[in-house]
Amino acid sequence: MKTLNTVAAHVIETERLQLRAPNRGDLETYLRLAGDPRVALKTTGIPHPLREADANEWLARANYGTRRTFVIARKEDAGMIGAVHLETRPDRVSAEAGLWIGVPYWRRGYATEALRGILRDAFGERGLLYITTGIPTGNPAAERVLRKAGLKFESLVEGGFRREGIIQDRVNHGLFADEWEALHC
Ligand SMILES: CC(C)(COP(=O)(O)OP(=O)(O)OC[C@H]1O[C@@H](n2cnc3c(N)ncnc32)[C@H](O)[C@@H]1OP(=O)(O)O)[C@@H](O)C(=O)NCCC(=O)NCCS
Repeated sequence: MKTLNTVAAHVIETERLQLRAPNRGDLETYLRLAGDPRVALKTTGIPHPLREADANEWLARANYGTRRTFVIARKEDAGMIGAVHLETRPDRVSAEAGLWIGVPYWRRGYATEALRGILRDAFGERGLLYITTGIPTGNPAAERVLRKAGLKFESLVEGGFRREGIIQDRVNHGLFADEWEALHC
């Protein structure tokens, strides 16, 4: 495996969660939770089936270049329950977000809380101006999470999502910093 120059990610605290940089100790949980097809197949980036080499690659690239990845861990037991990342675009002021929560932890508000945490950090601390997400159609849970965190529907791209030979439509949502401020200040 190539050694990449990584940057240290900081820690983001929310009421019940800590968002922190991934480490080798997370790999087993990553394989188990992200390896579930109910999670992997809904994302753009997680291979399925998920192998150990894929998990090592995820860790190596987690905080490399324009990508900042955070493990979502519960404060109560420090256990990893999911992950969230932001990929900054070349303009350096906008980024694409991606998020997943392991199936045993669904429907407890964790995704909404983690996304709100990352938006607060991105807009409030890092000075980003625009965050977007693109997800395949037919994912009401993800759409609900995005809307609850303040992202707005922007466009539907026919055939805009392709994975393992299957082409689906892509739903784009976005949020500008001034809209986020209006919601929170
Ligand atoms: C989408 C996902 C992140 C949601 O995680 P979660 O922690 O269960 O979400 P939350 O508990 O914060 O739920 C937020 C809202 O979505 C709703 N929701 C959650 N799962 C749902 C489902 N399967 N169907 C419909 N609504 C659902 C919740 O009821 C809640 O709305 P409410 O407060 O009005 O009741 C999780 O299902 C997941 O990781 N899916 C696979 C990967 C994925 O789709 N990633 C999204 C890319 S942005």
